[in-house]
Amino acid sequence: MIKNELEKKFETVFQKKAEATYFAPGRINLIGEHIDYHGGKVLPAAISIGTYGVVKKREDNLIQFYSANFEGEGIYQFTLPVGEYDKKDSWTNYTKGIIKILDDAGYSLSHGFDLLVYGNIPYGSGLSSSASLEVLMAWILKELYNFDYSRVDTAIYTKQSENDYVGVNCGIMDQFAVAMGKVNQAMLLDTNDLSYEYVPIELTDSSILIMNSNRKRGLEDSLYNQRRTESEQAFELINSTLKKEYLSDFTLDELYENKEMISDELLYRRAHHVVSENVRTMEAVQALKNNDLIEFGNLLNQSHASLKNDYEVSSLELDLLVETVQNLEGVYGARMTGAGFGGCAIALVENSQLEKVSEIVKRVYKENTEYEADTYVAEIYNGVQKI
Ligand code: GLA
Repeated sequence: MIKNELEKKFETVFQKKAEATYFAPGRINLIGEHIDYHGGKVLPAAISIGTYGVVKKREDNLIQFYSANFEGEGIYQFTLPVGEYDKKDSWTNYTKGIIKILDDAGYSLSHGFDLLVYGNIPYGSGLSSSASLEVLMAWILKELYNFDYSRVDTAIYTKQSENDYVGVNCGIMDQFAVAMGKVNQAMLLDTNDLSYEYVPIELTDSSILIMNSNRKRGLEDSLYNQRRTESEQAFELINSTLKKEYLSDFTLDELYENKEMISDELLYRRAHHVVSENVRTMEAVQALKNNDLIEFGNLLNQSHASLKNDYEVSSLELDLLVETVQNLEGVYGARMTGAGFGGCAIALVENSQLEKVSEIVKRVYKENTEYEADTYVAEIYNGVQKI
């Protein structure tokens, strides 16, 4: 449905027929938060909302971008090579960045293309709309120009673009999930060496409920980078004699034994989150394999507490959503998901209670904040693909 509409829209905007249409998902992260830049283990899954791209190659050197989400911005035009990040280029910095990073890696475009994009991930919701757009662009270029990079390479290049071109010091989790997702499977990704394993998400009588605080992340990028700097400082301190490769290589016992090396209490809490979250991810995977949803839910709750108290990346709104549902019947557990500071939380909920839980959390949220919450059941979906 949406595909046909977007192809028609492409024809109207560019006055020619589309060549191909692609879809890149968004993602949720089940557990393993803020540890993908410390070599930790994370458990994201792609979801069925994401970004669509309708494309046609051109004969000349022109690149034209149009977003059906920002129609008022009209068509953006660039000639190859695309040049550096420029604030006035708005959302196209994400797509330009991919072209630039790939060009640096030897994947140069011999000619331009026209691209229409449309995304249905609520912007700023922490469900990775940017990674979705980046991976979409890289995959379209791969297929359009017959480039030989793999899905994992796609994740690596797109993460590099976010780091070096857009300037957010993120880890690889989001881009990996968007490139590698599979229906009803999460990915246990070891961000130390990029080894991974698919973990079936078979929840039988339960579902993952996404709760959107609709509180957009404000200063998110600078706060994200700040947390990263703090936890890196903590790592330097504790690692001065131990020489591990990553903070997440520490066991909790090693952290406790060497506690005095991080004399700053705030930095210690940052390290404590990273080390404990890595342990929780492994335990959560085991719980899923044992079909032990009670244990899995407890780990979600513990993860949230750690993100709230030790890493301080939650927000009043996210805490309200999470803490409201944690106390309801039929809820195994809940936590914020993604970078935090706003955006979404997830909860594992028995299907029979889904409606009631949604209704209560929306009501409580509305009564206590200036926002309204949205809820959706997560459908675990495939990675980027032609549709
Ligand atoms: C953002 C980043 C990811 C990851 C999460 C927190 O989504 O893009 O790399 O660090 O935050 O887990």
